[in-house]
Amino acid sequence: MTKSNTLVAGVRNVGVLGCGLMGSGIAQVCAQAGYRTIVREVDSSTVAKGIDRIEGFLADGVNRKKLTNEQKDATMANLFGTTNLEDLSECDVVIEAIVEDLQAKLDAFEALDKVTRSDVMFASNTSSLCITEIAEGTARPNRFLGLHFFSPVPVMSIVEVIRGLNTSDETYNKGFAFAVSLGKEPVSAPDQPGFIVNRLLIPYLLHAVRLYESGLGTREDIDKSMTLGLRHPMGPLTLLDFVGLDTAHNIANIMYKELRDPAYASPALLKRMVLAGRLGRKNGRGFYDYL
Ligand code: CAA
Repeated sequence: MTKSNTLVAGVRNVGVLGCGLMGSGIAQVCAQAGYRTIVREVDSSTVAKGIDRIEGFLADGVNRKKLTNEQKDATMANLFGTTNLEDLSECDVVIEAIVEDLQAKLDAFEALDKVTRSDVMFASNTSSLCITEIAEGTARPNRFLGLHFFSPVPVMSIVEVIRGLNTSDETYNKGFAFAVSLGKEPVSAPDQPGFIVNRLLIPYLLHAVRLYESGLGTREDIDKSMTLGLRHPMGPLTLLDFVGLDTAHNIANIMYKELRDPAYASPALLKRMVLAGRLGRKNGRGFYDYL
């Protein structure tokens, strides 16, 4: 949690698009590393909620003696929330962490292209969409790459670094160095659906749902087997609740569309749970109840 990493030369201001769970986590680690961080959401209540989440996490970190009050204050002083896209005009790097929808991302980057300098590096935190496809929708595919963070961002050390077909070596190296400057462990991942982690994780999670549906075991026994049997921090059904059932269903659909491999097809039960509004921890009901 305590960062004493070298900031990337020429990068002072970082913009983060989206202040949901991932966006606020990314904004937190950027501000904590020492970058002046501006996080933008479409409405002020989501900005406030995201900033509150960061402040709560930092306060909890102080209680756990993972950081000092001074470090918490320094992080908060580096953090600015906004609903105005033009406030990102001074940024040297912009990371997008909005909804996992290709058109929404293309629209967001088109707007960003207009308000930022042409030398600014763009990164997408997409977990399943094609980096080359998003990059080619911008005026700077050579300055575009994927930086895929994991939830909870301040705790998980990995960042997958993905280069599109036209990402320059300079951009790729800068993205890698940027992840290191956040105290993260970057891993080079290919621009293939789900990169490395989700390529392996998603079929595992979907298979767990199919087997649960077929009566392999209770939800508790399936989860307990994987936590105790493999020392996973969470069993697959608990992890699905943590990721969000809608998010997992959406990622599976995107990956299945590209790979045409039945292992990535979202199971009937998952789809029905999403349709029934059981989205996991975020709204209190998923495979388990959290209310
Ligand atoms: N400030 C600082 N550190 C904190 C903290 C805070 N506010 N809150 C927690 N931590 C630290 C703790 O100190 C602890 O660190 P150490 O191990 O160094 O002591 C660590 O975080 C774990 O915290 P806890 O012990 O309190 O909590 P836990 O043991 O219940 O773990 C968890 C919680 C980290 C979420 C753990 O359950 C876990 O790792 N789950 C799996 C998470 C996962 O798989 N994430 C990836 C999801 S997939 C994804 O994101 C990508 C995608 O595209 C879908």
